[in-house]
Amino acid sequence: MSLNLLRTKSIEQSLADTDEPEYQLKRTLSALDLTVFGIGVIVGAGIFTLTGRAAHNTAGPAVIISFMVAAVCCALAAMCYAEFASTVPVSGSAYTFSYAALGEIFAWIIGWDLILEMFLAVSVVAQGWSAYVGTFLDQITGQAEGSHVIPDVIAYGGNGNSPGFNVDLMAIILIGVLGVLMIIGIKESMRVNLVLVVLKIAIVLFVIIAGIAFINKDNWSPFIRPAVTAAEAGIDQPGGLTQPLLQWLSGSQPMVYGGSGIFAGAALVFFAYIGFDVVATTAEEARNPKRDLPVGIIASLVICTVLYCAVALVITGMLPTPDIPQSAALANAFALVGQPWMAIVISAGAVLGLTTVVLTMLIGSTRLIFAMSRDGLFPMGLAKVHPRFRTPWVIGIIVTVVCLIVAGFTPVGMLEEMVNIGTLSAFLMVSIAVIVLRKRRPDLPRPFHVPFMPVIPILSALICFYLMLNLAVETWMRFLVWLLIGFAVYFLYSHGHARLQTGKTLHDDVVKQMDAGVLTPPQNR
Ligand code: ALA
Repeated sequence: MSLNLLRTKSIEQSLADTDEPEYQLKRTLSALDLTVFGIGVIVGAGIFTLTGRAAHNTAGPAVIISFMVAAVCCALAAMCYAEFASTVPVSGSAYTFSYAALGEIFAWIIGWDLILEMFLAVSVVAQGWSAYVGTFLDQITGQAEGSHVIPDVIAYGGNGNSPGFNVDLMAIILIGVLGVLMIIGIKESMRVNLVLVVLKIAIVLFVIIAGIAFINKDNWSPFIRPAVTAAEAGIDQPGGLTQPLLQWLSGSQPMVYGGSGIFAGAALVFFAYIGFDVVATTAEEARNPKRDLPVGIIASLVICTVLYCAVALVITGMLPTPDIPQSAALANAFALVGQPWMAIVISAGAVLGLTTVVLTMLIGSTRLIFAMSRDGLFPMGLAKVHPRFRTPWVIGIIVTVVCLIVAGFTPVGMLEEMVNIGTLSAFLMVSIAVIVLRKRRPDLPRPFHVPFMPVIPILSALICFYLMLNLAVETWMRFLVWLLIGFAVYFLYSHGHARLQTGKTLHDDVVKQMDAGVLTPPQNR
């Protein structure tokens, strides 16, 4: 068997796969729906939790600059996503784009990276949710300092008291329940999503407006804290492996704050923006994808950036950097300034709001694995459709169980940077792919053009790579292991079983069923 790693699935084929009546999804989503959907996925654990950790551990008050840097990176990548999504309006997002533009091996790497992104995002956000449930229960029952409703051994991070073994029971319950809902065929209901999005935005606005009263300008001074060693700042950096790769390569000892702290913060809070790319996965369900997708992607990103920067400014103004809480940051900040009822409101909003992120990411991973199975890169049989529920229950169970184990038994600190490195590497490839596709297929209609070609995609790729370099050494080590496993799976299985290799067609009944079952569009209910 000869290896043809760069074979591509033609755009026409990708479009044709979705063209037959039995595959066609209802085109019901408007630009506003897509924006709401985007905000629903984007606003989650990142802003509600990571803001605190990034301010406390890396950037100080300058974390607002970190948010801006991450937003610029996302905006550039978003334009590349938008051009692709308008040219190839097919489910599967970056994976599908790169199968068309770059070739199979790159599509595989992106798909593999996106699996990392979505699986871990489910787990990280579920743990953020669990932290907020704990905070909420403690607050409404009026627990004294240091005592908690949920016992340490089954609480998020052991309530900060049990460094050894502990199980995050709430995260397990959440993923279990949402996994079952997904498998029995819950639809991403746009109406429920709308309510939760409005609620989430209201809570974030509440944080901003209520927080203004507690700002003490001294907390912003110095705005960019001078760089100090992690030890001097009292921040735990075991073995220096949590130091950014770039810093480690330059041989300096682990430092926090200063300019490098801002970029390390940006690489971390990048997590808060993840999700706009998921909007591109709804391409087949958009009423007018060519116009509405770019609008949906870019509008949700702009709205989130404004909200995030305001929250960052307020939280760092409310408390001195060393006092900014690292878990359930927004609610705990209000508890610390003596406003327990405000903390309760924020926790309740976060508990409801974070649920949609977990559900959407669960469904997103199922769709992605479905798309890869449809192409034969994973066993097609995996995507069996349940006769009654009409969902790919085998993939659903696998995704749920894996996420449940990761969220239940792994410390969250290890996870969100892994989500970021998976996503950043996918963005990097999408940026390159957009240039390649322009060269290879100048003839394709492109309702949305990335402006200043090729400057914007090149800048996008460079910033993504720079942010990746600002992720921790241990994140890179884990990422490389993940990639090695991915290559092993590809060469041992996927390459030989790909539909481009075997020539199996979509007229295969099983595959038809898969499509009909899994790609259920969000419903306007
Ligand atoms: N952006 C999503 C969040 O912050 C993943 O939860």
